[in-house]
Amino acid sequence: MTELLHIKASPRADLSHSGKAAAGFIKALETHRPGLQVREIDVWQADLPAFDGPLLAAKYARLAGRFFTPQEAESWAAIEDLVQRLDAADAVLISTPMWNLSIPYRLKHYIDLVTQPGLSFRFDPQTGYTPLLRPRPVVAILASSGDFSEGPSWGRPDLATPYLRQALAFIGLGDADIVPVGPTAGKPEGVLAAAGKAQVQLAALAERLAGADA
Ligand SMILES: Cc1cc2nc3c(=O)[nH]c(=O)nc-3n(C[C@H](O)[C@H](O)[C@H](O)COP(=O)(O)O)c2cc1C
Repeated sequence: MTELLHIKASPRADLSHSGKAAAGFIKALETHRPGLQVREIDVWQADLPAFDGPLLAAKYARLAGRFFTPQEAESWAAIEDLVQRLDAADAVLISTPMWNLSIPYRLKHYIDLVTQPGLSFRFDPQTGYTPLLRPRPVVAILASSGDFSEGPSWGRPDLATPYLRQALAFIGLGDADIVPVGPTAGKPEGVLAAAGKAQVQLAALAERLAGADA
């Protein structure tokens, strides 16, 4: 493994629990893999094109097997670039908060943009959907104020974990290890224990990933 792509989805900079856990994971990985290249996509800073107009038309053109107009082709080039950046990575790390039961809209936006026919999946009426990205290690760190280890938190379900698992597998990034960091609010001892548990899990994952292609 030489290149890790870190997709960051918390806008909270230094205060972010998912960000802190991700930094610890990267540090652990680097001790096993000195020289590891870490590339970042901060979904709050990245230029993610609105998924409407010619870009949306391009997706439907692809699905219908029709040629692009020049405008559609231009919009599609930006998408090819995003998918190529994702596909170039040997391993993918996503760090994200849970927002309103699921993930922040900017991360959903990114996933919508890279989930494209002919680039990251294809459909054939005979065989159904086939993911096109090659499998690789994927780790997703999910920070939440709630504790979902025993099921819903105060009646709120965790829709982020099943969504991420399915959406990533749909494009070929199957078998993601999803590491919860939660609760991130409430009694300090509970918050500390959750962070510690995630840290132990992430250290073990770093060791496993580093050894996978050693
Ligand atoms: C807009 C918004 C929605 C949230 N929705 C949930 C939620 O549905 N469930 C939950 O457990 N926590 C929720 N939280 C709390 C965050 O998940 C929590 O603060 C987490 O630590 C954020 O991750 P970060 O520290 O990496 O930014 C929400 C926070 C915000 C700002």
